[in-house]
Amino acid sequence: MLNIRYELTKTPKAKPADESKLGFGHIFTDHMFVMDYTTGEGWHDARIVPYGEFAISPAAMCLHYGQTVFEGLKAYRTADGTVQFFRPIENFKRLNQSNERLVIPHIDEQDCLQALHALVEVEKDWVPHTDGASLYIRPFIISVDPFLGVKPADHYMFFIILSPSGAYYETGLNPVSIYVESKYVRAVRGGMGFAKTGGNYAASLIGQDEAHKQNYSQVLWLDGVEQKYIEEVGAMNIMFVIDGEVVTPMLQGSILPGITRRSALDVCRAKGIPVSERRITIQEVADAYDSGKLTEVFGTGTAAVISPVGHLKWNDKVMIINNNEIGPISQMLYDTMTGIQWGKIEDKFGWIEKL
Ligand code: PLP
Ligand code: COI
Repeated sequence: MLNIRYELTKTPKAKPADESKLGFGHIFTDHMFVMDYTTGEGWHDARIVPYGEFAISPAAMCLHYGQTVFEGLKAYRTADGTVQFFRPIENFKRLNQSNERLVIPHIDEQDCLQALHALVEVEKDWVPHTDGASLYIRPFIISVDPFLGVKPADHYMFFIILSPSGAYYETGLNPVSIYVESKYVRAVRGGMGFAKTGGNYAASLIGQDEAHKQNYSQVLWLDGVEQKYIEEVGAMNIMFVIDGEVVTPMLQGSILPGITRRSALDVCRAKGIPVSERRITIQEVADAYDSGKLTEVFGTGTAAVISPVGHLKWNDKVMIINNNEIGPISQMLYDTMTGIQWGKIEDKFGWIEKL
């Protein structure tokens, strides 16, 4: 149990006037949660303080060697005004998996939940009221020792910041166009691909930049060894409907174990839709496209929700999926996931946690 100190702002900001124009990750609330770690002492000094800049040394280790981890989840406002989270404990379990890979100390998952509830309680008026908008929650840990040697740090800071946000992709539920990256790779087995750490996203920027130049919005990564097997997209996992079966890359350590991915597979299983987690090559996807068996492609993620893919470009081959329209399984998953998250349909899975 944390003993949280509160230092509340005397100058709260105006809330966004038009929630349809929030975009993703631009606006931040009045407060943040902060806690420190010191070797020998553990996590300490939990506090909710005004959101704002803070000082660390220019030599802080996170700035040089990337010993950082983060998470992403959301708080949703239901029609009766209740604020609720979607499987928040899973995010903190994954935070610890990332911590372990980055040699960052374990953090108590119940303490994280307590911090999350305490902060969102203070900021609950910031949870958007508009359909499709929610409060994006970004927990993260950075190493802060002022030291230029490469080693695990002795001092860390854990933060939770909050950002009222709309759709991650400007296109909303309209299909996105995706470019299969054949030159660069994002992660390899044995590397950090499964961890939510800044370096993975830094590694992805060059591919994203190239994709944008070609008018594609995201990159589909292939495996880091043979560049044959599908991995994931920059900010979401990927699924293919082939011959009526939902196929998605299995978890082998190089992709993020998405919470939306796992939940979407559970929804499919509950609806009797066959699912398969296995290795899948980009060639198999192209062959399924040519034979008319590839009926839908979609991404899954907290920020991306369920994001249909309408264009897939692999070298010179351009695949137009389902006439560039959202398909029935993607639509069903979107309706079910957002229905549960916004409290519009019954949560048979026990995924919702109320504030
Ligand atoms: N893959 C990557 C690289 C991501 O950044 C995300 C977003 O969190 C996901 C997949 C989807 O994970 P989740 O569904 O847990 O948000
Ligand atoms: C999320 O979906 O929460 C993510 O972290 C994606 C992010 C890189 C914007």
